[in-house]
Amino acid sequence: MFNKEIYIERRNNLKKSTKTGLIIIPGNGNSPISYKDNCYNFIQDSSFLYFFGLNSQDLIGVIDVDNNQEYIFGKEYTIDDIIWMGNQELFKNQALQVGIDNFKEIEELNSLISNSKNINQKILFTKQYRDANILKLSSLLDINPFNFNEYVSEELEKNISNLRNIKSKEEIIEIEKAVNITRDMHLEAMRNIKVGMKEFELAAIIEKIAKSFNATTSFQTICTVNGEILHNHSQNNTLKDGDLILLDCGARTNSGYCGDMTTVFPVSGKFSEVQKIFYSILIKMFEKAESLIKPGISYKEVHLSVCRVLIQEMINLNILKGDIEEILDSGAHALFFPHGLGHMLGMDVHDMENLGENIVGYEDGIVRSSQFGLKSLRLARTLQEGFVITVEPGIYFIPELIKKWKNQNNFSQYINYDEIDKYISIGGMRYEGDYLITADGSRRLGDKMPKYFYEIENIISK
Ligand code: GLY
Ligand code: MN
Ligand code: MN
Repeated sequence: MFNKEIYIERRNNLKKSTKTGLIIIPGNGNSPISYKDNCYNFIQDSSFLYFFGLNSQDLIGVIDVDNNQEYIFGKEYTIDDIIWMGNQELFKNQALQVGIDNFKEIEELNSLISNSKNINQKILFTKQYRDANILKLSSLLDINPFNFNEYVSEELEKNISNLRNIKSKEEIIEIEKAVNITRDMHLEAMRNIKVGMKEFELAAIIEKIAKSFNATTSFQTICTVNGEILHNHSQNNTLKDGDLILLDCGARTNSGYCGDMTTVFPVSGKFSEVQKIFYSILIKMFEKAESLIKPGISYKEVHLSVCRVLIQEMINLNILKGDIEEILDSGAHALFFPHGLGHMLGMDVHDMENLGENIVGYEDGIVRSSQFGLKSLRLARTLQEGFVITVEPGIYFIPELIKKWKNQNNFSQYINYDEIDKYISIGGMRYEGDYLITADGSRRLGDKMPKYFYEIENIISK
């Protein structure tokens, strides 16, 4: 938890931008796995954590902008809780630590809402990603949970996103801690990889590192020899000589901030010559993005410049043919790079996407493309000092997609399908780093990470 002044300032900023209304920000409850008392690890809602700081279940934060009042509603601990949980700081005292002297029992929220309705005060809340919170708010506000999204305030979502987009120096310290644990997870995997291991055995080594820092993973670890399957959560393969591992994993610290990195490395410790060719293209794409990111450039522009590098290199290999700009406009290159270049990073690994991908990633007036590839660009907006973003280009040979496009003769004026067949065993590669946008450019967060193939080979051979 930060100093209470930080939470007070954040709420004041939200009041300033929202101007009027009753803002309701529900925290999360426990999420049962198989029966009520057997739950997933508790993860607090990140907007609640940002504005109200408390990392406990079933709290609701309320900001009455018109009357300049702030509340946390919940259920105060009783001896029944303490028997099962041990002694707890009372919520009314915890609330004081985040600058709130109005901790109230949850039942009292009903009368606050009734009063607010009686005076026609606007009641503002954001989209919710947990059914429990949809039901809770729907019941409190007497709305139909099936039409919940019709009642949410896009203006509030934008105001929250505009505040949380810009990371403070205290947040950057926390994100960098998460990135460094994430770095350790990757290095430990490189140091321990061996032919004959199962993917899940490598994942166990990786996740132990997070636990050893009292962190969790920030999302489900992707640890696979089939990197061309973009979100591959299966870990049953045995690692063979010649395979490349794609490792996309991250840590979430106990303060709630996340890291997110991807590396690819050879099981045997040495990249093959053909793997080196594509890995070097990948790093060229990555470095193109690195060289461009700074305040004032749109991330869509950066994404397109990275695509140009890919197209040029694929033309050099005779996999693509034609004019770079024509290929770029057509979207044919997305056969090999079907996702976007990155996303915001913070308390959520895809930070604030619960508020809406387009609210976080697109400015007003910028319409998200529906073209294959570009439609998956989650972050397109103009970069600003204080953003923390990922840079994660990839190159993939997805057999099912190649076969489908080939059968349909898709973009055959630009794609030499016969050449592709030679490289299908490359599978998939992605390289991902986490960046702070600074006043005049960017800074990669965390201690130095291996990037070039020889740096990775050096770590594996030690
Ligand atoms: N870990 C998913 C991603 O990199 O976006
Ligand atoms: Mn990732
Ligand atoms: Mn990512």
